Amino acid sequence: MSEVASVLFGREDIRRRIEELGRTITGDYEGRAPVLISVLKGGSVFLADLIREIRLPVAVDYMSISRYGGAAESMGRVRIVKDLDEDVGDRDVIVVEDIVDTGLTLSYLITVLESRHPASIEVCALLDKSVRRIAPLTIRYRGFECPDVFVVGYGLDFQERYRNLPDILAVQDVPALTADPDLLVPLFVETAPEGSAQPPSESAPEGNRG
Ligand code: IMP
Ligand code: MG
Repeated sequence: MSEVASVLFGREDIRRRIEELGRTITGDYEGRAPVLISVLKGGSVFLADLIREIRLPVAVDYMSISRYGGAAESMGRVRIVKDLDEDVGDRDVIVVEDIVDTGLTLSYLITVLESRHPASIEVCALLDKSVRRIAPLTIRYRGFECPDVFVVGYGLDFQERYRNLPDILAVQDVPALTADPDLLVPLFVETAPEGSAQPPSESAPEGNRG
């Protein structure tokens, strides 16, 4: 595809894995109504697909955090920029994350959430970069083990770009992407689903689009 990045987990593999995760969660939480919490922004794409594979009356809620420097420098401590809308006391909580890397951010968040006395709290992460783990963490539901490479797509960004790529790509040449953050923009066309990059149809008159 490119020397800079290549597909690590394709959209079809992602879809199938999320179907399995949804089925497992549905079985494990039978008779209950868990609240799924996503940490903005990366986890929101995964959450949107995951909830549609869970056959239970789930609630969703979002948190937005900002880091004091990198995860390691801050030891995971974060400032809550947007807190949950709902009280999680006595609720079954599932924290949905795109990727767990050092685990510092998530273990800090779990401490914060536990202080609110939920009935239970589990983690569902699409990607687990377990070789980089610093803070021990139990990931009850895990999509894929992720090698120690920088990844983008399916919610994951590089400088706020590429969250909308349907596949997850491994970036082999991070310095090249740092030098030109738009380097992978051509992939939006190359990786588009069959037939989606058509020229505008004849029925849409010139100058009257969008
Ligand atoms: P950590 O587990 O506290 O180190 O931080 C996890 C967060 O770092 C994730 O929620 C992502 O936002 C971000 N992150 C870690 N690895 C990657 C990656 O390979 N690509 C994009 N974002 C990443
Ligand atoms: Mg994130």
